[in-house]
Amino acid sequence: MREEGLDSLGDLCNLLRETRGAGLDRKVVDAITTNETLFFRDVAPFDALRGVILPELLERNAATRTLRIWSAAACSGQEAYSIAMMLLEMGLSSWKIEIYGTDLSEQVLERARAGKYLHIEVNRGLPAKFLVRYIDRAGLGWQVKPEVRRPVRFEKRDQRDELRGLGPFDVVLCRNVLIYFDLETKKKILAGICGCMSSHAYLPLGAAETTFGLDDKFLRRPLNGGIFYQRGE
Ligand SMILES: C[S@@+](CC[C@H](N)C(=O)[O-])C[C@H]1O[C@@H](n2cnc3c(N)ncnc32)[C@H](O)[C@@H]1O
Repeated sequence: MREEGLDSLGDLCNLLRETRGAGLDRKVVDAITTNETLFFRDVAPFDALRGVILPELLERNAATRTLRIWSAAACSGQEAYSIAMMLLEMGLSSWKIEIYGTDLSEQVLERARAGKYLHIEVNRGLPAKFLVRYIDRAGLGWQVKPEVRRPVRFEKRDQRDELRGLGPFDVVLCRNVLIYFDLETKKKILAGICGCMSSHAYLPLGAAETTFGLDDKFLRRPLNGGIFYQRGE
């Protein structure tokens, strides 16, 4: 509103209607989305991935040597790069690994694609040994090394849209975004995600999120201190 010299939300809504597609909608999305994220956020889901889920998936996918992971509502990319670093630590150079990051906000996606972070961001959640191994100094900030960025691809995607043609994924991370939607939208989003998970895939949600009461196709699996969901038979 300040940038457009407007005094009220009503005026902003009117201008949005008049200038549809002229870039103001993007600015509004960038302004109203909550872009809080960090490397290895909440720790427990990553411990479970490292200790239980990835070893299981590696065994299951040994014939194809492929692994497909979706970081939905990926924000500025720390979640996707945390997984990429974890997989590099596991020494999977002969595997075909795809990490797909999506978000609604172009602003955060630009940052995610660049893989560039401020000092304060690499100080949040990233173990020191990962900083040394996988992040370079870049001017006053830091940049994730090309080997970490290589398997990761970011695209704009509204989580509320149809997901036809996506997947199947072995892991879908959809964390700390469902909280922003009403009941019906949460149900639609979970049904869409369910449709692009492979039969053995895992879904971690945010600590304050659940599929309970929204979608009974999911089974709840507590693992290494984190809660994961899987498709029922
Ligand atoms: C609080 S951040 C969570 C980021 C990350 N998943 C995490 O847990 O650290 C929420 C993200 O959801 C994105 N978002 C909000 N509404 C969305 C939508 N309809 N479709 C896709 N992404 C959305 C925001 O742009 C923001 O980057």
